[in-house]
Amino acid sequence: MKERILTGIKPTGTVHLGNYLAAIRPAVELSNSEEFNCFYFIADYHALTTVLNKKTMEDNTFHVACSWLACGLNPQKVVFYRQSDVPEIFELNWILNNVTPKGLINRAHAYKAQVEQNGLAGRDLDFGVNMGLYCYPILMSADILLFDTNFVPVGLDQKQHIEIARDIANSFNNKFGKTFVLPEPKIDENLKTIVGLDGRKMSKSYGNIIPLFATESELKKYVNRIITDSKLPGEPKSLDCTINLIYKSFANLDKAKEFEEKLLNGLGWGEAKKELFELLNTELSPLRERYNYYFSHKEEVFKILSDGKNKAREIAKRKLEFIKNKIGVL
Ligand code: TRP
Repeated sequence: MKERILTGIKPTGTVHLGNYLAAIRPAVELSNSEEFNCFYFIADYHALTTVLNKKTMEDNTFHVACSWLACGLNPQKVVFYRQSDVPEIFELNWILNNVTPKGLINRAHAYKAQVEQNGLAGRDLDFGVNMGLYCYPILMSADILLFDTNFVPVGLDQKQHIEIARDIANSFNNKFGKTFVLPEPKIDENLKTIVGLDGRKMSKSYGNIIPLFATESELKKYVNRIITDSKLPGEPKSLDCTINLIYKSFANLDKAKEFEEKLLNGLGWGEAKKELFELLNTELSPLRERYNYYFSHKEEVFKILSDGKNKAREIAKRKLEFIKNKIGVL
């Protein structure tokens, strides 16, 4: 049997170039490689820790589904589903609660960061912490363990969550005998940070994103907003400038080198922005077209997710039965 890869995508906002380069493109490439069986899902119940609004949740979920399909996810090859469509995950979540020491979860980064901030601000330590945020790593463990996942492609920020999933799997296996596969994080060490309009990491929270599916004229406006210094045409430009950093994360090596030479030779900012726009637009316009197609074919997208649900649940049900049998509730 092929090894399994699984990853969850939180529907919390506009999909941007950073998401595409760091997560979507590599995941789609992996799924086309024939080497693994891939499970990619929309983690809507994880988004619920912050998105508590019906319309936002619906819109974000549909946007994320269209985005992945537009970027080439092939639903014939990948089991592509919405987390909330698979109730077995939440049943496993409860079971896992009972082999998870509270102390393990106290150490989870997102929770700890909030507690520390509260401490500094002199507030009650659990201010702003709901149980969804606190138990987040256990639900994530259920996502992973239910599908006998071998590898989880994630960013460095999620590494601790995979370690927690391993700890929980170990703890269950020790009590009830071998039940769960121990998952490993799959982290791309070579991946450089994708920077946004202001040169900081591209992130919704910095307000510096370039949306992946901006129209052509919007894309042009975004590129024009990239911050530059006041060097004139003819003056050599720093290769650490934001325009070059973004250019490099998209272009192949030859093109990237050529662009750097032009910058060193005094390419003006206006011209540089034009070149960056052309580069982005060439790669993104076919994606944009496919996105618009899916966006206006809602039924087709729902059908894909519903087929994905059926495939996922078939596997999930069998595994859950096996687990329940182990704990004596079947
Ligand atoms: N926590 C992940 C993130 O914020 C999303 C996620 C939910 C996930 N469940 C998962 C990732 C399971 C990998 C495996 O990006």
